[in-house]
Amino acid sequence: MSRLFSLSLCGLFVFSLATTNALAAKTAYDPAAGKTTYDTACSTCHKTGLMGAPKLGNKDDWAPRIAQGMDLLVSRSLKGYQGKKGAMPAKGGNAKLTDAQVGNSVAYMVEQSK
Ligand code: HEC
Repeated sequence: MSRLFSLSLCGLFVFSLATTNALAAKTAYDPAAGKTTYDTACSTCHKTGLMGAPKLGNKDDWAPRIAQGMDLLVSRSLKGYQGKKGAMPAKGGNAKLTDAQVGNSVAYMVEQSK
């Protein structure tokens, strides 16, 4: 009985991994929509470089970050990130933002900083 249980748990795990991957692969960001979110929730730090934030449009600061890939940039933006330069609160400190809004604003910042 317990074997059956762990087998089904295992199946569930594989299934959820498969769905997450499918979702991640399909994610398309909308930088234009992200501008509004950037202006209201991210620009406080990212416009001026406050607290060590990479400045919008600063190619040198963004290039190595962009090289990490969107998935990592977005997940750090959602969960918060303590880097070498400073600390960024989850969702820039604005918990009301949806994951899509945060993803779009990352795409906007990346697009403006290439
Ligand atoms: C309170 C200030 C603050 C706000 C607001 C803020 N950030 Fe940040 N963010 C930071 C700091 C500081 C870093 C750099 C940390 C480091 O590299 O040491 C950072 C880094 C980042 C990075 C790069 C992460 C990496 O892997 O290099 C992304 C992407 C990012 N922020 C996205 C956002 C988005 C999107 C928003 C708005 C929803 C936002 N930030 C709002 C402070 C902020």
